[in-house]
Order: sequence, then C-alpha cells, then structure tokens
Amino acid sequence: MASSLHGKTVVVGVCGGIAAYKAAHVVRGLRAAGATVHVIPTPSSLEFVGRATWEALSGNPVHTGVFEAVDSVAHVNLGKQADLVLVAPATADFLARHRQGRCEDMLSAALLVATCPVAMFPAMHTEMWQHPATVENVSVLRQRGVLLPDPDSGRLTGADTGPGRLSDPEAIVAFARAAISAKPRDLAGKRILISAGGTREALDPVRFIGNHSSGKQGFALANAAAVRGAEVTLVAANVSLPTPCGVRRIDVTSAAELAAAVQRESARHDAVVMAAAVADFAPAGAAASKIKKTPGEDAFTLNLQTTQDVLRTLVTERGQETSPFIVGFAAETGDAEKDALTFAREKARRKGADLLVANDVSRGVFGSDNNRVHILDAAGELLVSGEGSKESVSHLLLDRVSEIMNNG
Ligand code: CTP
Repeated sequence: MASSLHGKTVVVGVCGGIAAYKAAHVVRGLRAAGATVHVIPTPSSLEFVGRATWEALSGNPVHTGVFEAVDSVAHVNLGKQADLVLVAPATADFLARHRQGRCEDMLSAALLVATCPVAMFPAMHTEMWQHPATVENVSVLRQRGVLLPDPDSGRLTGADTGPGRLSDPEAIVAFARAAISAKPRDLAGKRILISAGGTREALDPVRFIGNHSSGKQGFALANAAAVRGAEVTLVAANVSLPTPCGVRRIDVTSAAELAAAVQRESARHDAVVMAAAVADFAPAGAAASKIKKTPGEDAFTLNLQTTQDVLRTLVTERGQETSPFIVGFAAETGDAEKDALTFAREKARRKGADLLVANDVSRGVFGSDNNRVHILDAAGELLVSGEGSKESVSHLLLDRVSEIMNNG
C-alpha cells in the first residue's frame, strides 16, 4: 500500500496572482515527496515570480508560450507525461479560459492534452470567487472531473478577509499525494464528518490531561475523502496540521466541546468517522487558578469523571431515518493471551458502529506517517487488513465506506 510520489510526474501550472509565490513551496514539497516536477507558469504569472525560480526549484527547463521549445512539442509532451496536473494558484481568469477550452499559452494547451487527474486550487478576492460567472465556471469544471476544492477563508492580499485564500502549500502537496492514488470522485454528493486529534481536559489554567494523538490519520482521511469528492467537515481537537484543501474545519479542545460539535453536525452528514482520541475521563471541574503544591504533602489526588462516549451516543441514537453511517476507531495492542485483532473483534461487536478500524499500536503509530489497521464490520468480521502510509490506509477505509454507501 505504498503511496508516495516516487516515479510520478507532476506538472505544476502557476497563474498570475499574488499567491504565485506560495507555489514555490508546493514545488519543493512535491520534489521532497519524490515527484519529477515541471512548472508551467502563465506569461502573466512571471510578473510575480520569475522563470529562474521555477527552473531552480523544479530542476527542469520552463516554458510559458506554445512557440517555445517547438521542436520538442513541449505542450503535448508535458500533458502526456503528467500523472497529475496541478494549478496553483488558479485565478478567476484562468478558470474562465479553461472552461472554454482555450489554449493560447503552454499551460492551457498542456491541460487540453492531459488525460491524467487535474487539480486546481483557486485564489482570488472573495467577490471574484462568489461572482456568478466564477461560480458557474467552477461548477462546470467540477462536472468535467476537475478536482477543484474551495479556497481557504482568511486574510487576502489587502486588509480584507474572506473565502479566496490559496490553500496551504503543505495541504496542496497532501492533496496531490491522495489524488494520485484515488478513485475519481466516488464520494461526490456525500457529506462526511470526521473527528481527529486528541482532546485536552483542563486541570487549571495552565495544565491539562491529554494524549499522544497527532491528528495525522484523521486529517489524511479528511483529505482523501475531499479528493474523492465528499463535502467534508473536520472536528479537530488540538491539531497543528494545515487544514486539508476544501475542508470545513471546526477546532475544539475538550471532550465536551468535541461531543457538542459532533452532535450538532452529525444529523446533516451521511457518515461520521470518529478518528479522534477522546478522553474517557475528565476532571470534575477545572480549578479557576493554578493548583499549588501543599508543603509537606507527597501526593495529589485528582477527581475524574467519565466523559460522554460520543460514538456510543451516535450508535444508540440511530434508528431514525437521518442516522448517518458510523465508523469508529480503536487503538489496540495484544497481550499474553489475545492478539490485537481478537481484541478488535470483541470491541467491534460491543461498539455497534457500522465499521470499526482497529489501529494496531503494538509497534507505535502515534505521530508516525504510517499505520497498521484491521477493518471490521459490526459483527466483528474482518473485512480487510492493511499497512502503509496514513493516506493509503485512508483510501482503504474509504473504499469500504464508498462501496457500502453507494451500493447499500
Ligand atoms: N470515543 C468516543 N467518545 C469517548 C471515547 C472514545 O466517541 N469519550 C470513540 C473514539 O473516537 C473511537 C472509539 O470511541 O472511535 C474507540 O475508542 P476506545 O478508547 O478504543 O474505546 P473504549 O470504549 O474506550 O475502549 P477501551 O475499553 O479499550 O478503553
């Protein structure tokens, strides 16, 4: 289940917008992941970042016009060689031109030749993104199969803020990695709610009880689901990773906040994936000021209460027509008598979720880029096991989710 960009050729198109400089980080990230990268800037983008930058970062010659490198028919070769074409930033003008199938420069010509997956990451002012012409162009391009996640919301070029910010370069590289191994858009039209990370339970204003979850698996899942066309909401508990492209993010801290967010959101989603490590116990109440040591006492007792089991609540409250498809996660290790899989079978039957993904943490996965999982159904039957990068494990799970949700 290897999933990296080794041996893959990625063509990076850069359009003329202020966010063009961020594409330099995308090119670096793609090369670090092992890809061969060819950059095709539009002529106007060279006003923002020059050809030398792209040649140095990609290690390949750069052409912008169809009358350059004519002897090698560069636009045809680049379009045909590519395993993925990625346009970042994609301006409103470029989306309009590509919708029309125009090909007056090297990038638009190469795109008309390419038969591989194409991903475009928009960046423009909010008004341009929300203009009916852009809305229509985006919709047509998506229908044609272009992967076109919504831009981030945040600070734009001037003092203004709103939707239109280029996705984080690291998130664009993660999207590229997932897109290269994805089944195209089999989750289109599905709304998926994913919890990720680890909750923190405050003891006082400076201390908390937490856990080692990095959020990488949940974020990889959100990214992979978005690449496959799902509308994804991510409830992130204390995760420092960039938001996956096109994903709506709700940040939470404690188990109670996570429970409230999942409960509020679950009814309008078709599936809920509980990948977060949620505290089972929390202090009965956080102290208003920092807890001090008591001189002469060599022990301190904490009074903990059980938190709400969010997964159990989702399972027990199902039955109504709006009930989403429910996926639980479980970190398992074996002991002297039973292996991790046996414990996972027992937990799958106990939990009652439609699918249970058992993380085999015997060899340590926290913070790692790899994972080892067993996917079981509600009866504890093993459907599939796999080991690999967190994005390939994500696709393994989403294959099952898609199969069941699309075929019943
Ligand atoms: N979970 C939850 N709410 C909690 C604790 C856990 O929704 N308060 C969810 C996790 O997100 C995960 C699943 O429950 O999807 C399994 O968590 P785990 O801690 O392995 O399950 P437990 O029931 O706590 O099992 P154990 O008895 O092994 O601790």
